[in-house]
Amino acid sequence: MTGTTSNTTDRESSLPSTAKTVIYDLSTRTLQLHRSVPLPTPDPTRGDHLIRVHTTALCARELEWPFLFPDAIFSDNPERVIIPGYDLGGTVVTAPPASRFRPGDEIYARTPASRSGNCREYTIARTGEMALKPKELDWVQTACVPLSVLTAWQALFVHGGVELEGLVERALGGSGDGGGGGGKKRVLVTAAAGGVGIWLVQLARIAGCEVVAQVGSLENDKFIRALGASQTINYREVGLKQWVDLDSNNEVDIAIDSVGGKTLEESWYCVKDGGTLISIVETPETRRPDGWEQMERKKDLKSLFFIMEPIGSQLTEVSKLIDKGLCEPVVDSVWDLEDIEKAFERLNSGHPRGKVVVKVVG
Ligand SMILES: NC(=O)c1ccc[n+]([C@@H]2O[C@H](COP(=O)([O-])OP(=O)(O)OC[C@H]3O[C@@H](n4cnc5c(N)ncnc54)[C@H](OP(=O)(O)O)[C@@H]3O)[C@@H](O)[C@H]2O)c1
Repeated sequence: MTGTTSNTTDRESSLPSTAKTVIYDLSTRTLQLHRSVPLPTPDPTRGDHLIRVHTTALCARELEWPFLFPDAIFSDNPERVIIPGYDLGGTVVTAPPASRFRPGDEIYARTPASRSGNCREYTIARTGEMALKPKELDWVQTACVPLSVLTAWQALFVHGGVELEGLVERALGGSGDGGGGGGKKRVLVTAAAGGVGIWLVQLARIAGCEVVAQVGSLENDKFIRALGASQTINYREVGLKQWVDLDSNNEVDIAIDSVGGKTLEESWYCVKDGGTLISIVETPETRRPDGWEQMERKKDLKSLFFIMEPIGSQLTEVSKLIDKGLCEPVVDSVWDLEDIEKAFERLNSGHPRGKVVVKVVG
């Protein structure tokens, strides 16, 4: 293969020519397992690595993205083939010459949804997306991390204004609470037991924030407190507006919403004047409560929606925290490639605790 390092030769010569691959058929909206799809061809000039996939994980609503955001989803996918699963745990088979990764490296990544995903035996990942996987995790646990942790990391430290400088070093050297880098900010996390929520809770706790977690059951209440929440709200019993109306001390500095709709609308009331409201589901402005501008206690909030970026260097920092035992992935369930439809059914139930993982190669 042109441009790959010489020590890839043996590995390449033993490669099969085809691989099992799940394709989401856009015309019928069905998931189909194909047993002999040609392997993807890495382009070394774009930093492509060929990766043997061990595990991937699914993201809520990902099968809707080609219809909701076609321009973004097909921007780097000229063949318009949707292969689900954008988390990746795998072993490098070939690497471009300039890469810091070598064949045999065990890596993880969130590969962009603008390319085909990782429900297949061989895939492509690019240098800037990849990091060495946490040593302490097995492949199933590894797949639970990238997309969700990057979203949580960027929500808190890039968009939410929680101080990151020196945080990882303090956490590694100390008690694990980050030495108060969060400045005791109060952070509200909705859908706290979900894929992204469990990382928001843990990273905010590591940053020294006070975490208020919204959950839907007593079981999840206990679970999320064990991960670091100091206060919980059961969404089946009390709405967010009602909760903050009961006691204005309940207001938070930062609210991070993973639910959208009415939950996002009511999140507006929960943020202090000057605070920040973030949604990873939809633009908060579209859910601003009616009459907000005229409200007597109108607050000046920064509000934003963002889409996470696949940044390998952030995963490298996360690997350090995980290997030190300061935070951990949560596996909801594990499925074989053959059971991909059942895996999506579980995901679409709306109530996974942590991530739905697909095992590709044992
Ligand atoms: N913008 C981005 O870059 C980005 C990145 C990742 C994900 N996302 C999006 O973020 C959303 C969340 O993703 P995720 O992976 O965290 O989802 P998820 O794992 O499917 O979320 C499941 C959690 O949602 C909770 N939940 C269900 N209905 C709820 C309600 N009405 N109110 C409050 N909580 C409720 C469940 O709690 P109980 O089981 O306790 O009921 C469960 O813990 C998805 O829409 C996803 O597409 C966006």
